[in-house]
Amino acid sequence: MKFLVLLALLAAAAGEHSHGGHGHFPHGGHTHFLPVRHGFRHTTSTFPHRPRPFRPAAHPVAPVHPVVPQPPASGVAVDDRLDDSEYHFSWRHDGSKTYTWDGANQYCRSLGSGWQGISIETREEDSLVSKAISGDLLPWIWTSGHLSRHGLDWAWDSGAQFVGLNWSHTGGNGQAQPDNRERGGEKCLGVLNNFYNDGVKWHDIACHHDKAIICERKARVHG
Ligand SMILES: *[C@@H]1O[C@H](CO)[C@@H](O)[C@H](O)[C@H]1NC(C)=O
Repeated sequence: MKFLVLLALLAAAAGEHSHGGHGHFPHGGHTHFLPVRHGFRHTTSTFPHRPRPFRPAAHPVAPVHPVVPQPPASGVAVDDRLDDSEYHFSWRHDGSKTYTWDGANQYCRSLGSGWQGISIETREEDSLVSKAISGDLLPWIWTSGHLSRHGLDWAWDSGAQFVGLNWSHTGGNGQAQPDNRERGGEKCLGVLNNFYNDGVKWHDIACHHDKAIICERKARVHG
């Protein structure tokens, strides 16, 4: 302890001394003593350039038109794009966690402004979902699709009109989906990867089941 205190005192004294030195030897010839502007130029021109780490050139990215990325960069990873939408595949970024339907959609909203569970509105979008799931060998995902409160109509969080593009022709009871099979109701829309040997298809599922999710954000289109 005493030793440390002594060291500190010595260091302070040395600092004091060198400080004074500046005053005494203004033309010492060290870069310290040069006028700031000159010293700066001197420093930058003679210091050896640090070798930059090699970085392979980024892949050229095809221009996405007319989508304009939203400023500022939110830092949310975007795994795919289609038309004016960006998609984030939860399982690639959260250690493959799974969530109830509520939890999964909350995960999407927590990504930031504009993010919500995916709303599958077109065949192209459905095909993007199919490719994501089968490409990553995922058994199933949640979407934002859910049965309305009165239990009659399906709805997307995007507010777009719901069109049942790709309900499975079968399920646990061998009946076309949605079949509201599980006791307690199947009020949430998931996409299953060939679970009933039926391809990548939509199923109504009880909302308490755990799955990953695809999140979607509509990019703003300007002009
Ligand atoms: C439904 O999904 C399958 C892939 O499992 C796809 O081949 C088919 O085109 C889809 N149908 C529609 C109407 O999107």
